[in-house]
Amino acid sequence: MSIFELFQGVFSGKGSGQYPTIEPFEYLETLSFISDGRPFIRLEQKTKKTDRVTPLHQEVGYIRVLEGSELELVLVQPTGVVEVAKGIYSEEDASATMEFRSIQVIATPSAKPVAETLRTYRLASETLTFEFHMAAAQQETQFHLRSDLVREEA
Ligand code: HEM
Repeated sequence: MSIFELFQGVFSGKGSGQYPTIEPFEYLETLSFISDGRPFIRLEQKTKKTDRVTPLHQEVGYIRVLEGSELELVLVQPTGVVEVAKGIYSEEDASATMEFRSIQVIATPSAKPVAETLRTYRLASETLTFEFHMAAAQQETQFHLRSDLVREEA
């Protein structure tokens, strides 16, 4: 199966996050990957507190699928942050992985600046694991989030 067919769908589940400057937290996430036959994947993500009501982070963007397993990402966030990243796609045994490292993180004048982001989306069977590292708030690049999501019934 192609990267488009493998990731296509809606995934949901639970995640947790931390950073040296904030209190650790847990959240609920819905993440969808949508392909329409062109060489990109539309990504939409929404999170909520575990009370199932209060909205947390969300983001929308596009994964551009290039020749030779290369990927590019452009991703917009309501916090005023835009991530522009390069990535690589790999398949190994029973898993498929998209890994990204930012080449530029742009912030609007009022946004909290972010210096670098790393993203990993790993699909194994019908489980999608997302990990996110960042450099922000004068900290070195380090872990902020991990979520474990399961594909929703079509
Ligand atoms: C699943 C997605 C995410 C969730 C649930 C989440 C949640 C949180 C929470 C609860 C906080 C602490 C309270 C607050 O400042 O609002 C926080 C802080 C922060 N997050 Fe995230 N976040 C997510 C993704 C991201 C992403 C993608 C970025 C950057 C590209 C980011 C950058 C930050 C920054 C810069 C802070 C502030 C740290 C500080 O002020 O010291 N977060 N996040």
